[in-house]
Amino acid sequence: MTFTLNIWRQKGPEDSGRFVTYEARDVSAGMSFLEMLDSVNQRLIADGEEPVAFEQDCREGICGSCSLVINGVPHGPDRGITTCQLYMRRFPDGAVITIEPWRARSFPIIKDLVVDRRALDRIMQAGGYISVNTGGAVDGNVLLIGKDQAETAMDAASCIGCGACVAACKNASAMLFVAAKVSHLASLPQGKPERTHRVRAMLEAMDREGFGSCGNQYECEAVCPKSIGVRFIANLNREYLRAGVVESGLLSEPEAPHAESA
Ligand code: FES
Repeated sequence: MTFTLNIWRQKGPEDSGRFVTYEARDVSAGMSFLEMLDSVNQRLIADGEEPVAFEQDCREGICGSCSLVINGVPHGPDRGITTCQLYMRRFPDGAVITIEPWRARSFPIIKDLVVDRRALDRIMQAGGYISVNTGGAVDGNVLLIGKDQAETAMDAASCIGCGACVAACKNASAMLFVAAKVSHLASLPQGKPERTHRVRAMLEAMDREGFGSCGNQYECEAVCPKSIGVRFIANLNREYLRAGVVESGLLSEPEAPHAESA
């Protein structure tokens, strides 16, 4: 198979960037999208040209690194997968494919297709953790958790922080990311003592980083490689309202599930 690739090339953050057209030759249908880019890069290196910079790590849909906008869609045309799980058989032979980086002010471009996504890390650092001491694994498992509750927490925890939700949103909102993290921790007993602080701190950090607000377009849900639903954004809004009620003194925060504190 042969493809014409229009790839965004940008030397660095200060460069204005442009599309450059390359031909991907001798591509097999079983190649992943990243393997196809590897083969293009090998040819560029052999020709003495600068290879295209792109992010990848696990190539198993786990790490969230492979952040490419393919023909206008984060992670490409298939739902519920990351770019590394996309195979070239998905495209007709001879297709023209446009490849761009995540585009959002809060994700400045480092080089070519690589963007700086540390803004998501800073949101996590603001409150996306549990600091109460829950003991070892056995102690943790002493707390019985209902099946529905455990499944909700697990669905939210499947967020890999890739940032596709931001890239798909007209407002470059990180609401689905924050909603998944807040909902995951708020669903579990270990996460309840800090839930008021957590939701406020993470939303404030999101605003500080320059992410926009949710516009109810559901584009984030459509592109999420882990199929995380916007119901978690509704949950985030409830958590935020609840935080207001707690701070007004009408509701009190529960104690940590174990007597020990961090
Ligand atoms: S490379 Fe890790 S999710 Fe794609």
